[in-house]
Amino acid sequence: MRLEHKHAIVTGGAGGIGRATSIALAAEGAAVAVVDLNAEAAEAVAEEIRAAGGTAIAIAADVASEPDIERVVSTVVAELGGVDVVFNNAGIIRRTTAVETTVEEWDRVFGVNVRSIFLMCKHVVPVMAAAGGGSIVNTGSGWGLKGGGQAISYCASKGAVVNMTRALAIDHGPQGIRVNSVNPGDVNTGMLRDEARQLSQDADAFLAEAADRPLRRMGEPREIAAAVVWLASDESSYVTGSALVVDGGGIA
Ligand SMILES: NC(=O)c1ccc[n+]([C@@H]2O[C@H](COP(=O)([O-])OP(=O)(O)OC[C@H]3O[C@@H](n4cnc5c(N)ncnc54)[C@H](O)[C@@H]3O)[C@@H](O)[C@H]2O)c1
Repeated sequence: MRLEHKHAIVTGGAGGIGRATSIALAAEGAAVAVVDLNAEAAEAVAEEIRAAGGTAIAIAADVASEPDIERVVSTVVAELGGVDVVFNNAGIIRRTTAVETTVEEWDRVFGVNVRSIFLMCKHVVPVMAAAGGGSIVNTGSGWGLKGGGQAISYCASKGAVVNMTRALAIDHGPQGIRVNSVNPGDVNTGMLRDEARQLSQDADAFLAEAADRPLRRMGEPREIAAAVVWLASDESSYVTGSALVVDGGGIA
């Protein structure tokens, strides 16, 4: 097992990619804290891991809130015994242009997608550094690298995630902390259906369009999870500051 004796935090752990990654990290031996706004769904994922013989706790939190993030980090240290891996994955999308986006929506997207990662790193880096290092993986997006239509706040926020990841890698590499982003293309989760709803499009047609890429299909959450497990593990020991694209060839 690649993550034995490691302790991991997964934000957005109740969602499509977060759930698959929580399960994959636990299957490699990590004790996992499943963090999500949706307390019930987070508990269900933690229970699923425990039922399979793994170790997991659920923590209800809003990742945009500093008190919540401080509570997450102190709870994980107290209950699991440390933090070696963080997957900053919680995210939201608003499918609107600049003209259509309200200031409140813009700030919420940046709060959940960007401030959350700053806050987590602010509070978790000292814990990791004191223990000799760790691995942080942030969820960007193909649209953080190339842009996309009718999602101005999302594209800007994910571009920030990619470059914040590089800055974090530069600052904390000397402390033994690696920081990378994983950048999915369209992945079969609730987020895609939510986008179809926001755009008032038929969900099936929207998903068919999402599959229009060289590998002729959408990604599955476990395929993002596999990349995160690799970035979390010592197999990627010389990889930091990178933006790993997992997208079926869609954004090349
Ligand atoms: N699905 C895709 O096609 C796709 C593509 C590129 C990037 N991503 C990114 O992957 C990540 C995971 O998305 P997903 O597709 O699994 O979506 P999802 O909607 O299935 O999961 C997101 C999870 O984040 C949680 N969440 C939302 N706001 C939160 C907050 N403030 N605090 C704590 N938890 C919160 C939700 O409750 C949900 O469980 C996101 O950052 C998303 O932007 C997804």
